[in-house]
Amino acid sequence: MRAASLCAACLLALAAFSTAAVSTVAVSTAAAQEAGAGLAHMRGAEPIGDRTEPPMMARTEDGAERRVRNYPEQPPTIPHEIEGYQLDLKANKCLSCHARRRTGESGAPMVSVTHYMDRDGQFLAAVSPRRYFCTQCHVPQQDARPPVENTFVDVDDLLSAAGGDADE
Ligand code: HEC
Ligand code: HEC
Repeated sequence: MRAASLCAACLLALAAFSTAAVSTVAVSTAAAQEAGAGLAHMRGAEPIGDRTEPPMMARTEDGAERRVRNYPEQPPTIPHEIEGYQLDLKANKCLSCHARRRTGESGAPMVSVTHYMDRDGQFLAAVSPRRYFCTQCHVPQQDARPPVENTFVDVDDLLSAAGGDADE
């Protein structure tokens, strides 16, 4: 008898908990919908059982200008194709152009000095293991239309809007 009444209390608590959980989900869905301006999911209005038309493959930019960074610590984007470049434990194609001793013949910018530092700020002779897998941070660019608009504002624009000093 006692056990049964305890259980009823549990159930009540559970019910209250799940109502709270559901409303949290509802709130975050609303926020996501606002950011996506009506975008429900990648399938669009296509019913779940139907096959959707995949978007055209976008072309990767190659031979492009070096892109302005959005903030000083941003890993610069890759302005050239990297298709087929080997990047594993055995070989690093990127370093064949971007390593300090290769930049003379390749004309590529040298990897940043931070890439020679270990986590304690000590400079090593070779690129630090934590900077070895370049595509962890640097990515090539495609002319693709993102389904959700990016509302990023450059800090210089924020500062000049506020009447402060910008970078230039
Ligand atoms: C054949 C030589 C070569 C190889 C291999 C190569 N790059 Fe480059 N990379 C260049 C050159 C040259 C530039 C400069 C392009 C320019 O100034 O327009 C460049 C530019 C870049 C930049 C832009 C730097 C900046 O300051 O904006 C990044 C990042 C980069 N490469 C990363 C990589 C990564 C990662 C790989 C391997 C997946 C790689 N590169 C392989 C020659 C190469
Ligand atoms: C953990 C992230 C990370 C990895 C891995 C990494 N980078 Fe970077 N890279 C950055 C950041 C952040 C910057 C810009 C700030 C700085 O200089 O540290 C940068 C800057 C650069 C630059 C511009 C240098 C300049 O002075 O204009 C080049 C070129 C570059 N990286 C190439 C590479 C290559 C090639 C590899 C692989 C061997 C690599 N990076 C691995 C984060 C990374």
